[in-house]
Amino acid sequence: MYWDKFYLKRRGFVASSKERNWMCREFKEIVYDPRDDIDVFEIGCGVGNSMVPLLRVNPSLKFYACDIAPKAVDAVSADEYLKGYLTAFVQDVTQPIPTSIMTDYSVDYILLVFVLSTISPSMFDQTLKNLDRVLRPGGVFFFRDYGEGDMKQDIFEKRGNKLSERFYLRQDGTRIYFFSEEETTNFCKMLGYESMEQKMVCNTNINHKKNLTMVRKYIQAKWRKPFN
Ligand SMILES: C[S@@+](CC[C@H](N)C(=O)[O-])C[C@H]1O[C@@H](n2cnc3c(N)ncnc32)[C@H](O)[C@@H]1O
Repeated sequence: MYWDKFYLKRRGFVASSKERNWMCREFKEIVYDPRDDIDVFEIGCGVGNSMVPLLRVNPSLKFYACDIAPKAVDAVSADEYLKGYLTAFVQDVTQPIPTSIMTDYSVDYILLVFVLSTISPSMFDQTLKNLDRVLRPGGVFFFRDYGEGDMKQDIFEKRGNKLSERFYLRQDGTRIYFFSEEETTNFCKMLGYESMEQKMVCNTNINHKKNLTMVRKYIQAKWRKPFN
């Protein structure tokens, strides 16, 4: 399995809150949630890069986390900082999540960060529906992923390893998709959620030594599940 190989090569790779400062800046609903017990579900958690910075600023968070790669689940389960705050399990999120692990309406927030882009587009809707079951009414879904026009898309397009429109095969066997704004708007509509925010985040990095301008584009969206 490609993602397990990915984590096998990166053994000892641990969560770094430094890399994810944007998480706290962008997801204020979680950071400033005043409740005592707040349940968050991170899908495709990897080594926990999103959970660690959030827990540092809000210790009332309790996490469920899943990943298709057992090595990632092993790594996140062994993370000292997350101990006592985390229930982690192996799960292919394109498949229904067993009710023995997560009952209906069990979490206040869902994090789907750079994960849907690794899944086949034919499974996008089913994946989102699988997650809908566990989100409480009034709960918020946080989505961030690669946006159409990101510099990486150009590179993949030139290499010729295209699987379908905006979907490419990486050299290590994993896949990457670039989302349009229209598509993410449609995800929200399909779920019947209220759109709280949707934006294309554009970052331009200049490498003066190599005389390179790198334009990174990410789509970020927040959707609220209605009460009825
Ligand atoms: C690009 S990484 C992002 C990891 C993490 N969310 C982050 O932002 O650092 C994609 C993650 O999604 C996981 N993944 C890929 N397909 C999945 C699936 N069908 N179900 C659950 N996890 C999946 C991979 O194992 C990997 O950990």
